[in-house]
Amino acid sequence: MYKIATLNNISPLGLDRLPKDRYEIGNDLVDPDAYILRSFKMHGMEVPASVVAVARAGAGTNNIPVDEYAKAGIVVFNTPGANANAVKELVLAGMLVGARNISKGATFADGLEGTDEEITKAVEAGKKNFVGFELPGKTLGVIGLGAIGGGVANSAVALGMNVIGYDPAITINHAWNLSSSVERVNDVDEIFKRADVVTVHVPLIEPTKNLVNAERLAMMKPNGTVLNFARGGIVDDAAIVEALNAGRLGAYVCDFPSNALKGCAKVLALPHLGASTNEAEDNCAVMAAQELRDFLENGNITNS
Ligand code: MLT
Repeated sequence: MYKIATLNNISPLGLDRLPKDRYEIGNDLVDPDAYILRSFKMHGMEVPASVVAVARAGAGTNNIPVDEYAKAGIVVFNTPGANANAVKELVLAGMLVGARNISKGATFADGLEGTDEEITKAVEAGKKNFVGFELPGKTLGVIGLGAIGGGVANSAVALGMNVIGYDPAITINHAWNLSSSVERVNDVDEIFKRADVVTVHVPLIEPTKNLVNAERLAMMKPNGTVLNFARGGIVDDAAIVEALNAGRLGAYVCDFPSNALKGCAKVLALPHLGASTNEAEDNCAVMAAQELRDFLENGNITNS
């Protein structure tokens, strides 16, 4: 029997891939062979010598001390692409919410009081404060053209945007069926200089820390938008707030609230909802369970 310890709730659809006659699954197993988790932070956690693998039902692995585990011979799996559609849809929603002031407009409308006639009057007077912009003809700059960034790029092409993309790690355009309409650029700064909307889709690793910083924000055209549905530390929040308050940047839409962003009217921060769909949770759990099973039973290593 293989013992798999769960560190978060994992979709039953995934756990069903580990047959009960060969797998014992639970959250308090002693000396498990492997862990399966979502966002549980494993840094500092004591891991018994019995553990040979860790599978994250998600794309990012920054909640796992990957280097430390590699030295200890523990294989770490993730599930790239399994929640890409969920994140992509939220990025597109974020771009539209920003472009059309949907969130601010809804808050304004919700706060209106009086008779219906008075509310209608207030709507007519107030709506001029929420004039937005349309996407066709605008330039979207996508940093990172993996499963999520590539999907966002393709969808933006379909929305009529000019799309430019930067990814030093992906050399072939069809890696994620990238549209031939996406123009590849070789310098990340070119993204900031040319784009009306910049969106980041890279992992948080040392070279991507504060990739969106004061210097690069200063390269952007006036009134641009930055989207961050990747990881918080990729964007320097203090620099964002400074650029927003100075009127150089138009909006920041992200999936990572922080103290620096709090109270800034031009920020829309969501509580890390990117992969929060039933479909994504199922897809990630299924992929993670299959990876573990293939490793434990056949010694195969995929997506590590
Ligand atoms: C991911 O890394 O897969 C996404 O950010 C979603 C998540 O962390 O659950």
